[in-house]
Amino acid sequence: LDRFSFFVGGNWKANGNKESVKKLVQELNDAKLEEDVDVVVAPPYIYLDSVLNTLTKRIEVSAQNSWVGKGGAFTGEISAEQLKDLGVEWVILGHSERRHVIGEKNEFIGKKAAYALSNGLKVMACVGELLEEREAGKTTEVVFEQLKAYADEVPSWKDVVIAYEPVWAIGTGKVASPQQAQEVHAEIRKWISDNVSAEASSQTRIIYGGSVNAANSSELAKQEDIDGFLVGGASLKGPDFAAICNSVT
Ligand code: G3P
Repeated sequence: LDRFSFFVGGNWKANGNKESVKKLVQELNDAKLEEDVDVVVAPPYIYLDSVLNTLTKRIEVSAQNSWVGKGGAFTGEISAEQLKDLGVEWVILGHSERRHVIGEKNEFIGKKAAYALSNGLKVMACVGELLEEREAGKTTEVVFEQLKAYADEVPSWKDVVIAYEPVWAIGTGKVASPQQAQEVHAEIRKWISDNVSAEASSQTRIIYGGSVNAANSSELAKQEDIDGFLVGGASLKGPDFAAICNSVT
């Protein structure tokens, strides 16, 4: 991988409190991170401001969601403009928990991605199949539909990172094997080449998420088309997360 840096995101989900967030930021500030890895953490909305103000490392900060359009009368939502105003640089969109627990649909997620990009946020655009979809041989069909929903809306893939997160691997301890992940990542890269452009295909980072930990990340990182990780549970422990960030070396 010499065309771009390895990318590791930490998705804290709805975990933590003021005290644990402070401790985690301290651990990240103390961690030794390799230079050629891009590191982004995604705290819950309510801790974004304090994390932005207390991180001393060159770690970027992401939200876990954003509203589909301009802010206004949308109770409980946070707009892309507000995230930018705070100094947030990234947003995670299309996460499986938002798709399958909250019920967000492909088209809505594609529109969110376009709106976030148009307001200067960079996007971790998630895709991934359910266990029953994999077992029915529908993995690529499902993932390609999700990719198309992004491609239909976003004008450029320059500020997009694709996160492949098979739903059966998320929070289950059942990590995809390096071969299983590589296979889908290669399909995604080919899809981008066939449907967006050769340039986007070679320059878009495709990261893997789903039960990544400090013990399994190195093997996954060796795969040709795995350009980084989106880490859930293991991102809540500073030393583990730092080890995952450094696993490409
Ligand atoms: O977005 C990260 C993710 O869903 C994976 O979570 O806990 O399996 O690493 P986890």
